[in-house]
Amino acid sequence: MSKILVTGGLGYIGSHTVVELCSNGYEVVIVDDLSNSSLRVLDGIESITKSSIKFLELDLKNLELTESFIKSNNDIDGVIHFAASKAVGESVDDPLKYYNNNIISLLNLLTALKKLDKKINFIFSSSATVYGKPDILPITELESIKIAESPYGNTKQIGEEILFDLVKSSSNFNVLSLRYFNPIGAHDSALIGELPIGTPQNLVPFITQTAIGKRDILTVFGNDYNTHDGTCLRDYIHVIDLANAHVVGLNFLKIKKESNYYDTFNIGTGKATSVLELIEGFVKFTGIKLNYKIGNRRSGDVEKCYAEVSKANNQLKWKSKLTIKEALISAWNWEKYISNEKL
Ligand code: NAD
Ligand code: WQD
Repeated sequence: MSKILVTGGLGYIGSHTVVELCSNGYEVVIVDDLSNSSLRVLDGIESITKSSIKFLELDLKNLELTESFIKSNNDIDGVIHFAASKAVGESVDDPLKYYNNNIISLLNLLTALKKLDKKINFIFSSSATVYGKPDILPITELESIKIAESPYGNTKQIGEEILFDLVKSSSNFNVLSLRYFNPIGAHDSALIGELPIGTPQNLVPFITQTAIGKRDILTVFGNDYNTHDGTCLRDYIHVIDLANAHVVGLNFLKIKKESNYYDTFNIGTGKATSVLELIEGFVKFTGIKLNYKIGNRRSGDVEKCYAEVSKANNQLKWKSKLTIKEALISAWNWEKYISNEKL
């Protein structure tokens, strides 16, 4: 059985990926420093998978502890590296936190893995944010990478560069950088989902928290964009589809004959949805009324961001399957569950 280290495995995307890995026969070990998650997620994962998952609370910024953890888990053959800080606005206010956490953690992890001196298949959580304001839509992987719009975005660009250089220098690493578009939704069981701390920055948790009454009103950030209804376009992908892309990615690397392999893939649906369409969809699919108003544009928002996904479709043989309807219903079920749990 192939053993995979999942860093940040108690986070939103990590937890769903752990479930997908388990159901595809992988053995998983999770490390997470719980800076943006909680141990109850582990209970959720274990209830869904009906298995006990190895977990260690570890801050990857600590090189010594990271090295000793990797040394004692030298039977891993793959790593999915989710652990990072991810709030774009916070990264503008506190760039050092982001460079420290996102870059030092990655460097420490790679330093420790390199010492194992064995073949490691590595998947890096990158983001559509690396594209900034795209020149051509839908966005292909060939889109030029411009100066990042935020320190967070820059940590993803730098992370990709570090991995590209490492792969050139060491035949032990085969790497995929997966550039996620906008993940939404939750596991069907409603036992795991997105758990924003404080006021959500992202649209879907703001929608569900408003619908349940935790927030008074949702503000649509601008309706004067050059789109069919004036609101921004995004490529919303069900988190289960995104989680599955990691399993497919690992399987792809496992059978790769060549070494020194590095590549980037867009992971999205290829479909563009406006903010208003998402809100109207939520109301239609759940039957719940939503209090919203049109407000000013949010600074830094890109007008249109959606993926060209044929590279992942053709090379990884991965394709998103789930619909926005399924994603929104699952997000709503998850909101109802956590509100009952009073987490
Ligand atoms: P998340 O915050 O829910 O999960 C990240 C996990 O990493 C958390 O559980 C956190 O406690 C842990 N962590 C952070 N720093 C750590 C450290 N130093 N050591 C150990 N654990 C640490 O975020 P997510 O939404 O699941 O995102 C996962 C990855 O995907 C991140 O790298 C993020 O930048 C990237 N990404 C997310 C999105 C998105 O919209 N959610 C989009 C594109 C890319
Ligand atoms: C989606 C749309 C908002 C909230 C961010 C990061 C990106 C990536 C994913 C990590 C936009 C509008 C939102 C609200 C609104 N993360 N909106 N009212 O900005 O596409 O991407 O998360 O890599 O880096 O920037 O996602 O969910 O914040 O916004 O009108 O209360 O919803 O203006 O058009 P975004 P989002």
